[in-house]
Amino acid sequence: MAATNIEVWQLGTVIEVQTIATDIQRVVVEPSLPRKAEPGSHIDVMVTIDGNKDRRSYSIVESNADGTRLVISVLKAPLTRGGSLFIHGLQPGDRMEITQPLQNFPLRIGAKRYILLAGGIGITAMINMARVLRNLRADYTLVYAGRSRGAMAYLDELQELHDANMLVHIDDEGTPLDVGNLVDGATEDTELYMCGPIRLMDAVRRAWTERELSYPNLRYETFGNSGWYDPEEFIVKVPRLGLEVPVGRGRSMLEALEDAGADMMFDCRKGECGLCEVKILSLEGALDHRDVFYSTRQKNATEKMACCVSRAVTSKTGLAAEASVTGPAVVTIEVP
Ligand code: FES
Repeated sequence: MAATNIEVWQLGTVIEVQTIATDIQRVVVEPSLPRKAEPGSHIDVMVTIDGNKDRRSYSIVESNADGTRLVISVLKAPLTRGGSLFIHGLQPGDRMEITQPLQNFPLRIGAKRYILLAGGIGITAMINMARVLRNLRADYTLVYAGRSRGAMAYLDELQELHDANMLVHIDDEGTPLDVGNLVDGATEDTELYMCGPIRLMDAVRRAWTERELSYPNLRYETFGNSGWYDPEEFIVKVPRLGLEVPVGRGRSMLEALEDAGADMMFDCRKGECGLCEVKILSLEGALDHRDVFYSTRQKNATEKMACCVSRAVTSKTGLAAEASVTGPAVVTIEVP
């Protein structure tokens, strides 16, 4: 059976681990209840961070036909919430709870032209899609942008496989990606799939909107773990519930509020669906909007935020507020 969004948890046994680029670990897992993984699918992994269990989503980079062998590749990002450190600590023989492949970034077959855009570790969401499009002899370009060659997983293999269908942009080699040029190359018939840092996806989204290209043709996946600023501890207050809760660097506001007993609404927990929206009553600091749900205008209005990924920071140059504060940032909210 193919990947769906019905969640079935199972055990995964780690059978191989390998460092394949700077701070990027490739992990091969044998699931106990195999299911075929379609392009764009991911698994959720139950990770343990400071003794707490939490789930993280990782794209399936490769799998065999019957899904008995799944490969994920994970960037160690100590400034984010800690799931990547758990994955980097795995050894062959370890077992972990994983879902069967889940699909919310499907590749639509039949478009006239495709652009697949990956920034950094976002390549993990694109590898399977690119392979399928190559096999179908589709008109596609795989665009892979990164800071340095050594930090770009799978670069050599992908260049060999996709050859003239691949463009590579590397900052420290003086060939950074020009988002405007890239989007200028899209036509009404082009579908653009992307996964990467929030800055990159935001820039593409703005360029796409400015050129009045079809919005349904712009498809993206974010795992909610990249922001405009490094994460800081901040305080969230919910006056109606009498809550004042610290949100540590390794926790999301949603997790902190759940821990404090608030009954929160959510779905994707990745900044895509908007279901975890909270209303902002006041803010001491600035907001680091990490979602891809709100428009730039909505983000600048500082009236609401996606609390599963977005954070408060003290930065004076924050996008959504001008005040600078000396202590931790404080955001006062109302929950639905
Ligand atoms: S739960 Fe989907 S955006 Fe937060």
